[in-house]
Amino acid sequence: MKSHIQIFDTTLRDGEQTPGVSFSFDERLAIAKQLELWGVDVIEAGFPASSQGSFDSVKAIAQTLKKATVTGLARCKQSDIDAVYEATKEAVNPSIHVFIATSPIHLESKLNMTESEVLSSITQHVTYAKTLFDVVQFSPEDATRTPLPFLIESVQAAVDAGATVINIPDTVGYSYPTEYGHIFKTLIETNQSENEIIFSAHCHDDLGLAVANSMAAIENGAKRIEGAVNGIGERAGNTALEEIALALYVRQDHYKIESNIQLNQTKATSDLVARYAGLAVPRNKAIVGRNAFSHESGIHQDGFLKNPETYEIMTPQLVGIKQTELPLGKLSGKHAFQEKLKQLGYDIDAEKQKVLFKAFKNIADKKKQVTDHDIHALIQGTSHELHAHYQLDALQLQFVSNGLQSAVVVLKDKDGQTYQDSSIGTGSIVSIYNAVDRIFNIQPELIDYRIEAITEGSDAQAEVRVAIKFENEIFNGVGFDHDIIYASCKAYVEASSKAVTTRKEIEV
Ligand code: KIV
Ligand code: ZN
Repeated sequence: MKSHIQIFDTTLRDGEQTPGVSFSFDERLAIAKQLELWGVDVIEAGFPASSQGSFDSVKAIAQTLKKATVTGLARCKQSDIDAVYEATKEAVNPSIHVFIATSPIHLESKLNMTESEVLSSITQHVTYAKTLFDVVQFSPEDATRTPLPFLIESVQAAVDAGATVINIPDTVGYSYPTEYGHIFKTLIETNQSENEIIFSAHCHDDLGLAVANSMAAIENGAKRIEGAVNGIGERAGNTALEEIALALYVRQDHYKIESNIQLNQTKATSDLVARYAGLAVPRNKAIVGRNAFSHESGIHQDGFLKNPETYEIMTPQLVGIKQTELPLGKLSGKHAFQEKLKQLGYDIDAEKQKVLFKAFKNIADKKKQVTDHDIHALIQGTSHELHAHYQLDALQLQFVSNGLQSAVVVLKDKDGQTYQDSSIGTGSIVSIYNAVDRIFNIQPELIDYRIEAITEGSDAQAEVRVAIKFENEIFNGVGFDHDIIYASCKAYVEASSKAVTTRKEIEV
């Protein structure tokens, strides 16, 4: 008989701790809705005590979601616990995630507390959290570098105080599968409680072992796995949840455990997070990378054509990658376009469809055939722009060979106000970026710039990603367009607008 595993997503909390990633309020809400559609059981929507922005979005997510448990992170501090309570109290299923470090290095260097002080703090704060929540999850931070006897004591203290979920974080990605599995086995065997206690795994990928460690935890009794979409998160990231979901499904003969994940929503979830995080999914990434289902060698192609199962252990359709069907063209009308959106699984309201149809016509004028890839790219780009605080309104470029280039940039904000400036530079992109800097009145450092063709052919649509450093923080931006100059400008505008918005937040 198959048992059930809970999937706990922390894309909006630990995932947002990825250097350079900062989701806007609208993006957090959109991601949370998609996570619910994907079938995630628990969504860690943020750390409400950390900022007003986090508090507000946790609250909005709690008010919006219909099924998933919404949780928030809290240190062992009454004010943190109160903040999670206030932010999640309207959720259909609210819960709290309380943590304190237990390893010697954290006790000595960070907390300046003794082991017995940590145990009292666990008892005091889990007890308090239990007065506000039915479900309290407790995490001993840096559990894998905590001596096992003290880990057992800490976990027992939390359970005695009312925690019913115990999460074991491999905070620094230090453990290996047999060791991590052994920790679960030992804790499950030694823990004493009248209630059913769910043990949960939370792994970081510093040694590239996060997924393997999580699978070892499952083999040793874990009934909840924490992670993030595309494996984003602090430093090297968290367990990639799409890999867990597919490993459990494809190797159900071995694991015999089911999750609620709707596998055909996997690609859409990954795309959404990649876009809002401004972090491209590596081409060779398992499950959702662009190469995950392409076959290069002649021998592989030959085998695949004779029988796909020769080289494919799962189909692209399983994870929601749609095959290219009939392309649209410039004569295709509204109806054909609507049909295509439906076929590709998009449920888009009439207002947004109008905007998309206009953008589609624009592309169809430039391309002979508009493929399914183009439509996906169009939807990504357009919805991105609809959420953006500043949009590129007009761009004028004067190009001279062997000389300085000049650019005029016009931006429009959400309220329709326009901003314009011009500048020169040693190249077209430099002149555009200088003009944008003048509009925002900042001087960031461009630290990354990448162009990728997201559709096929010489008339492909382009995706440009940039990262800028401003006041010691990194901001990512992404721009989609048929023209790489436009895409480059849009990406830079997005990153710069995040930088100035953050500065405003700090100033308030
Ligand atoms: O990695 C970690 O230890 C965490 C805790 C807050 C659970 O993210
Ligand atoms: Zn973590």
